Amino acid sequence: MSDALDQELFDLARSVGLEAAALVRLRRPQGRVGVAATKSSPTDVVTEIDKASEALIRELIASARPDDGFVGEEGDDVIGTSGVDWIVDPIDGTVNFVHGIEAYAVSIAARRGADVVAGYVVNIATGREYGAIKGRGAWQYVDGEPQAIVAEPGAPLSHAIVASGFHYTRQIRTKQAQAMARLLPQIADLRRTGSAALNLCDLALGHYDMYFEQGLHLWDHAAAGLIATESGLIVVGLDSEPNERMVMAAHPAMAGEYFDTIRACGF
Ligand code: IPD
Repeated sequence: MSDALDQELFDLARSVGLEAAALVRLRRPQGRVGVAATKSSPTDVVTEIDKASEALIRELIASARPDDGFVGEEGDDVIGTSGVDWIVDPIDGTVNFVHGIEAYAVSIAARRGADVVAGYVVNIATGREYGAIKGRGAWQYVDGEPQAIVAEPGAPLSHAIVASGFHYTRQIRTKQAQAMARLLPQIADLRRTGSAALNLCDLALGHYDMYFEQGLHLWDHAAAGLIATESGLIVVGLDSEPNERMVMAAHPAMAGEYFDTIRACGF
């Protein structure tokens, strides 16, 4: 029963995600997109198209499964009665979307009880899709067909390409700059591409060796965290579960060394 339900939730996540991505693509004007409002800081922005994408996702999910709960980046939480909640980022990588940098994604996760059981991420600009169902692996779509993603061990720390991001608030960024100054001499290089969801999917694919970031919200990493975990990676926080304080992800073969280094740098 739960297998069939998880598949149903994944299929809904994918069909809704594809519709939302199509809407965002259609509505994106040439050049830079206007900012509708700012959130945690003047550089934490939201556009009317983020809001339209989330409204569409809410409407499509509610019409298919009216009793489910909903946690979205751009609106109020809905408490459900079915035991299933949706955790949605209508555009992860809004700053990239505003500037026309092709790394922004729709991210949709379904949680049953305490567990995220289905995750779907689509890069809106390129159309690349990634998915996972808890206990059943992770995959990317190649010519529309699912192809398993199996993560491989990363490089030794001194050769590691590390993906990360920086907090929106200045005070925390100042601390991050100091910690990053300690980390940089120990790794091969750093990438900051501006979408946590795509960073985690790309880590699973082996484009990076490690990913870590502070200040993420659940909607930034819920779907891609499952994709990463199901590909064989470990996704944790500083001490336990991934949370706003820290999300770190790497292959188990390297995670001990990588994560200890992140902690020792003072992030
Ligand atoms: C942001 C992206 C970015 C990360 C920020 C997130 P948003 O999501 O994931 O990579 O550095 O912390 O807030 O705001 O564009 O949905």
